[in-house]
Amino acid sequence: MDLAGKKIILGLTGGVACYKAAELTRALVKAGAAVQVVMSDAATHFITAVTMQALSGRPVYTDQWDARIANNMPHIDLSRDADAIVIAPCSADFLFKLAHGACNDLLSTLCVARPMHLPLLVAPAMNVEMWQNPATQRNVAQVQADGIQVLGPDAGEQACGETGMGRMLEPEQLLEDIIASFQPKLLAGKRILLTAGPTFEPIDPVRGITNLSSGKMGFALARAAREAGAHVTLVAGPAALATPLGVTRLDVQTAQQMHDAVMAHLAGQDVFIAVAAVADWRVVNASDQKMKKNAAGAPQLQLEANVDILATVTALKNKPYCVGFAAESENLVQYGEEKRKKKNVPLLVGNIGHATFGKDDNELMLFDAHGHTTLPRAGKQQLARQLIAEIARRL
Ligand code: CTP
Repeated sequence: MDLAGKKIILGLTGGVACYKAAELTRALVKAGAAVQVVMSDAATHFITAVTMQALSGRPVYTDQWDARIANNMPHIDLSRDADAIVIAPCSADFLFKLAHGACNDLLSTLCVARPMHLPLLVAPAMNVEMWQNPATQRNVAQVQADGIQVLGPDAGEQACGETGMGRMLEPEQLLEDIIASFQPKLLAGKRILLTAGPTFEPIDPVRGITNLSSGKMGFALARAAREAGAHVTLVAGPAALATPLGVTRLDVQTAQQMHDAVMAHLAGQDVFIAVAAVADWRVVNASDQKMKKNAAGAPQLQLEANVDILATVTALKNKPYCVGFAAESENLVQYGEEKRKKKNVPLLVGNIGHATFGKDDNELMLFDAHGHTTLPRAGKQQLARQLIAEIARRL
């Protein structure tokens, strides 16, 4: 669970988007967080404390004068063992309060009284005109300058019927951002290029050669690199996966297209990670029209080797730090060592067991100049974060 052991204060301020805070609470709890809800008076007009208590499993705080806290200082006590404060939705008025250090209700006082190292994240939600108002924009710039992380807002249809910037981010996006905020920024400012997924080599317009790669490991790595503060470009073969937030995705089909996309985006990259299961061969005599069964006998497919993308990159004079992957069905230790040398990469990552395609967990063996180490079986996202830490350490 991505937020196991984390204590999060979820602050709600006035706005229709309070209904999304209910969903966010569920998502945070599901991810392992202990959620303490604090609501402004305005927020209680949009959603009840009863709902928020039921979803968070804890009594909600709404009032500065709350006798449930022994010393009657909820604005101090609540934040002292918290790992983050998240304000979602954050109204225009609350942005004003944060920008000016207002302390005229529990939630605003709690924010001002928080220890300075305690991360504060806000998800603005308001009408487009309110968002664009220069006063709001001044407040946003001020809170950002004060180290408060502003998540969103998004553009789109609004509850008031108008359209534009000001929608609160969806709960699943907020969850990803909150999880990301807890990850160490090991790759801050670095540029990372990855390949992921299978490739598809056409036989005719409706058939082709591909493999069982789901793209999960590559996408998890792209997300982990982004969480670690990197600018991430992901060149993806056909994979039915959502693009991790903040990642630039380029969709390709064939190995040749993947190669071309990689070469076009290689300049200025610090790291290249080749995760894709690239088809080794392509069909030379692919047909422009669908092949018919009644033609004379079975078609004879003529194959030729695809370009090796990783080898092309490692052969360059000015190359980024390169990481290769290996899928072997046996003798991983021996083949891994050999492949690392053959591929000329400082780090090669072997999948332990070949039945990893499509699964949510994995077990990895890392090969470098000093030998090999194992990353024990875990979820692919967790492994991806460990692998990003290993790469950052070696950079
Ligand atoms: N790779 C690549 N381009 C290819 C083939 C492989 O960039 N045309 C990369 C993969 O993304 C992976 C590494 O090379 O990082 C090793 O891929 P793998 O299929 O295990 O090895 P191959 O080089 O194809 O060797 P073999 O199939 O013979 O084991």
